[in-house]
Amino acid sequence: MGPTAAWWRDAVIYQVYIKSFADSDGDGIGDLDGVTDKLDHLKRLGVDGLWLNPCYPSPGRDGGYDIADYFAVDQALGGMEALDRLIAAAHKKDLKILLDIVPNHCSVAHPWFQQALAEPAGGEMRQRFHFRNGRGQDGELPPNNWQSVFTGSAWTRTRMADGMPGQWYLHSFDSTQPDFNWQHPAVRQHFREVLRHWFDRGVDGFRIDVAAMLLKAPGLPDHGDHQSTADLTSHQPEVHAVYRDWRIVSDRSAVDRTLALVGEVWAQTAEEVTAFLRHDELHAAFYFDLMTQPWQAAAFRDSVRRAMNALDKLLDEAPDNPSGNLAWVLNSHDAHRSVSRYGLIQPHASGSQGVMGPALRPRGRVDVPLGQARARAALLLLLALPGSVYLYQGEEFGLPEVMDLPEAARQDPIWLRSSGAEHGRDGCRVPLPWRDNAPSFGFSPPGAADPWLPQPAWFGDYACDRQEADPASTLAFYRTALAARRELITGAAARLEWLDIEASHTPDDVLALRRAGITVVIVFGDKPFTMPDEWGEVVLSSDALAGRDLQGPGAAWLASR
Ligand code: GLC
Repeated sequence: MGPTAAWWRDAVIYQVYIKSFADSDGDGIGDLDGVTDKLDHLKRLGVDGLWLNPCYPSPGRDGGYDIADYFAVDQALGGMEALDRLIAAAHKKDLKILLDIVPNHCSVAHPWFQQALAEPAGGEMRQRFHFRNGRGQDGELPPNNWQSVFTGSAWTRTRMADGMPGQWYLHSFDSTQPDFNWQHPAVRQHFREVLRHWFDRGVDGFRIDVAAMLLKAPGLPDHGDHQSTADLTSHQPEVHAVYRDWRIVSDRSAVDRTLALVGEVWAQTAEEVTAFLRHDELHAAFYFDLMTQPWQAAAFRDSVRRAMNALDKLLDEAPDNPSGNLAWVLNSHDAHRSVSRYGLIQPHASGSQGVMGPALRPRGRVDVPLGQARARAALLLLLALPGSVYLYQGEEFGLPEVMDLPEAARQDPIWLRSSGAEHGRDGCRVPLPWRDNAPSFGFSPPGAADPWLPQPAWFGDYACDRQEADPASTLAFYRTALAARRELITGAAARLEWLDIEASHTPDDVLALRRAGITVVIVFGDKPFTMPDEWGEVVLSSDALAGRDLQGPGAAWLASR
């Protein structure tokens, strides 16, 4: 794909959680040179680019989403030179590089926040954040009733130089992640400079962390009984002006190349997501709705339909201006891996509740082969949909979630803040297995420190080298599926047509749709489905086929004759 093509429209992007991908220097923590070393793996997999989770200097209280300096690269990950090496090597292989930008909050270690703490109430730096006096007689109560996304109050009280309790500051996430005040011009200016700085360095775009947040309801009022904190901290109308501004910055930087802004948009409705895709805002936004659906054909179909209808409405609004695209995703560093979500046969009553999507981290007993068959089938749906697709590292190995990490090893602030009630997200961040018969399964070089999160003994079964040798492996399937997408789907018109399923199957059993002459059929249940002759020849399937019978769970692509 050339540098000026609108590659972001249907790119397949591979998400790299750097700390857990590959360790080049033996400290047990993945790093940027580790990513560079594995570019051949990604190229062979067939992706178009990489999204790197944050790589900036950070105390690491939330996996780097607590940034101390937006203009530098963490030395522990290899520093700026290592990022330059990665960008150059990726571009040589025609792979795009997206960085993660975190505009809602920084780290308490950021110099602005440190200066703010040293100031009295009302100080200039304090205005760049949300500092407020507490309520109650001595200001001992938080300024409002907002809850942190990571559980507990969204406010933490500061101490003054003399040790006396002072004002409170707002943090939508961990207490080490103070929210910026986006009404302040210096905050807006800072992020314009951040974008330009990295565009100048050669990056091809950004994944924007919690893109719908940034602006808060004016006056920071309490949420009412029938509201949640998110109603007042997300999707405020003024947030769109920020991205119109960023689009101008990115369009100006895109002289002889195409750049992309991709929003992480958590939303209640598809319209709230597509609102960010107007022609003068973001190029793409994640559609998480599909990721939260139970394994049922009707649930998947309705979710995709909601997305398509919302995109149609956007087109009706401005028919002459091409809008942005959806980014489809089933896995990330914030969710239990899809193999384990879809393979969950006995959910725990005490599964995750309400933190960043209750459906995303269910716990309980998992049937791994069942989950793998379903996850493979789901990939064939994802790859046929109009828009870009994001894969999360290790998905190509069919890795299940590590549900039983030792408590002492867990690091996620969700685990810490909920006092263990929530397991959090460490189980999808366990360092990847590259080689079966090697210390740390080849994650680090020989003689290295232990990996930063312990790998279970069964990780070796999923190692890359074992799958390389097996044509029936998940890795081989991912390669074949991505190649088929490139050949048959990439660049095709967006229109989807839903096909009727014969009466012997219930709507919860089978889903079929057609795009660009390709019919995609997914069997959700365990009753086999005979694919009608008029659908054409099978060109791809998630498992071996017996004639035209597709065994459930499974999926196939057929090409019209
Ligand atoms: C996003 C990130 C998540 C992070 C949070 C706060 O949701 O994906 O990992 O904890 O924002 O930055």
